[in-house]
Amino acid sequence: MTADENAPLPGDVDWGALREAAVEAMGNAYVPYSRFPVGAAALVTDGRIVAGCNVENASYGVTLCAECGLVSALHMSGGGQLVAFTCVDGNGETLMPCGRCRQLLYEHSVAGILLETVSGIRTIDEVLPDAFGPRQLAQYRVSEHGDSERSDSRRSDSQRSDSQH
Ligand code: THU
Repeated sequence: MTADENAPLPGDVDWGALREAAVEAMGNAYVPYSRFPVGAAALVTDGRIVAGCNVENASYGVTLCAECGLVSALHMSGGGQLVAFTCVDGNGETLMPCGRCRQLLYEHSVAGILLETVSGIRTIDEVLPDAFGPRQLAQYRVSEHGDSERSDSRRSDSQRSDSQH
């Protein structure tokens, strides 16, 4: 994934407003187990800001990271793609998204989304190099079948229904 015309320049982003939204979201975190609240906020292609907080569970592995709520909020509020992202801990300090959430952001972002990180503003390619994504699935379908839409008796109906990516 490389930067495209949808990705903003670092100076185009109101990072202060994003951080404010992330801190506000962090205040809603449900963290009775780790006591480690997280808030995440991102700018969307149409200019709106979406945010999320972490929501834990007695079955620890079921915990939802703040980024999960953010991506759900993205789709619940009209869709689009993320163009700039920030994440904070309970002290309002910049927090790196965990590995799984980098993958989550990759799927729902423009190429070249900017992230505020502990080492400055970075692109998704810098924090998730050589990423696996929808393109690999599409390439595989083409290499395997020549044409992803071709009728093929070896494929079941569910395999034939392509995702939107
Ligand atoms: N957490 C997030 O919400 N996002 C991340 O990217 C890193 C970790 C949460 C999950 C859990 O509720 C708490 O931080 C401690 O791991």
